[in-house]
Amino acid sequence: MNDAPVAIFDSGVGGLTVASAIAKRLPDEHLVYLGDTARLPYGTKSAETVTRYAVQATRALMRFQPKLIVVACNTASAVALPVLAAAYAPVPVLGVVEPGARAAIAASRGGPIAVIATEGTVKGGAYVRAIHALKPDAKVVQRACPLFVALAEEGWTDGDVPERAAERYLHDIFASAEPPDTLVLGCTHFPVLAGPIAKAVGKAVTLVDSAATTAREVETLLDSRNLRRNAVAKPPTFMGTDAPERFARVGSRFFGRTIAETQVELVDLTP
Ligand code: DGL
Repeated sequence: MNDAPVAIFDSGVGGLTVASAIAKRLPDEHLVYLGDTARLPYGTKSAETVTRYAVQATRALMRFQPKLIVVACNTASAVALPVLAAAYAPVPVLGVVEPGARAAIAASRGGPIAVIATEGTVKGGAYVRAIHALKPDAKVVQRACPLFVALAEEGWTDGDVPERAAERYLHDIFASAEPPDTLVLGCTHFPVLAGPIAKAVGKAVTLVDSAATTAREVETLLDSRNLRRNAVAKPPTFMGTDAPERFARVGSRFFGRTIAETQVELVDLTP
């Protein structure tokens, strides 16, 4: 079991920010990554549809007999985690919402916590519930920032356009009488926009990136179950449900390393 892969999925290539954080922290692990690029975005779809897609993605990953499944998509984590955990037990299923909530509580200096995410994640309220489960009196403000997903995919991660978008989305929250001291980047795509987001909210605000915190939780989980890989390191396996060329080109930016088109296997998740 130790040498089985860590399976990761996202609605697209954004979850490669999570895969990258896991690869940095656990360089010996074999990562199998599936991006449902044909059906992105999940963030604007209903909870029922996202859950159905997440079950199909996880089923495709099960052929690798993983030791752990990481739902590297905030929207899918927010709506589908209990269904996946029940369907694939005893394989542990880890989402990104709870690690992000824990990191936010740890980072906050007692002020309100802001969460930015997709429409689906905000509507479902999973971050608010996860934060309140840990700190019932925490004040949480949420904002959907769907345009950030497109900007990140386009590679417009610095300069005037993302800075103005960040300002427009976030100004009123951070100019309020009780501004948050912590901001959770509750979407896979947002860590690459951390520069313009930080500029819009100011230096006093701590940005919490659920990719890094999820990687830490993967490490903790593998260690607690004595599941670290013993065999020699193996390069990651990449799968997409559409357009391997785009997966490789855009995905390389999120992964922080070059992914070749030939490394991306095209898979069909429809039953
Ligand atoms: N992966 C999604 C998330 O983290 C963002 C992109 C999408 O809407 O599918 O919520």
